[in-house]
Amino acid sequence: MSLFITLEGPEGAGKSTQARRLAAWLRSAGYVVTELREPGGTAIGERIRAILLDDDHHEMAAMTEVLLFAAARAQLVRQVIRPRLAAGEIVICDRYADSTLAHQGYGLGGDLDELRRITYSATGGLEPDVTVLLEMPVAAALERKQRQSGDAWNRLDARTIGYHERVAAGYRAVRAAAPARWHTIDATAGVDDVARRIEAAIRPSLDRVAGVCRPSERGPS
Ligand code: TYD
Repeated sequence: MSLFITLEGPEGAGKSTQARRLAAWLRSAGYVVTELREPGGTAIGERIRAILLDDDHHEMAAMTEVLLFAAARAQLVRQVIRPRLAAGEIVICDRYADSTLAHQGYGLGGDLDELRRITYSATGGLEPDVTVLLEMPVAAALERKQRQSGDAWNRLDARTIGYHERVAAGYRAVRAAAPARWHTIDATAGVDDVARRIEAAIRPSLDRVAGVCRPSERGPS
């Protein structure tokens, strides 16, 4: 059996740092782990990412944005995620389909049912086994992101605080629809604390991969 883990939450909540930490923790225990980010994770997806984030693309229509995220995801699922899961490995993805519902749905006001249909076509219905939601107040997350990004502030970062508040509420609504796979972690704690809480949340799911990916005898500590 395999394990598909996604990380979600606002920009600046530390998802990419925590994805790296989680992957390192699992690898140290002998699991085979693939780390990915959305949009991206494939050569085609990284080119789509550049189009999506380009600051000059102010004229991008909401549906174009939706379909580009879906196109990158379709490629990632077929080229990487499904094959790795079929090999019994662990896949960690920094953002996935819940980001589309939260951002293009709740954030931009897109039709949720239509977004679900498009997402289903892109993923073939592949859903994460576990989703970690890193939660922190929107203003603090944006401030952190701005501090870290400097000149790398992109087209999507530049959206209003109202947009980011709607996205945060969107995550809560999406989580409420399938609470079993979600683990909500307070991202305002220190990096080490957050990492430990994520590890504790993931640990019970490792039973799914035990025996396939050669965990060390005592498992991750
Ligand atoms: P990135 O710089 O990777 O931000 P983060 O570190 O917060 O993930 O840029 C990805 C951006 O794309 C981010 O603003 C969220 C947005 N996004 C969507 O709007 N919809 C989606 O489906 C996905 C996957 C990402």
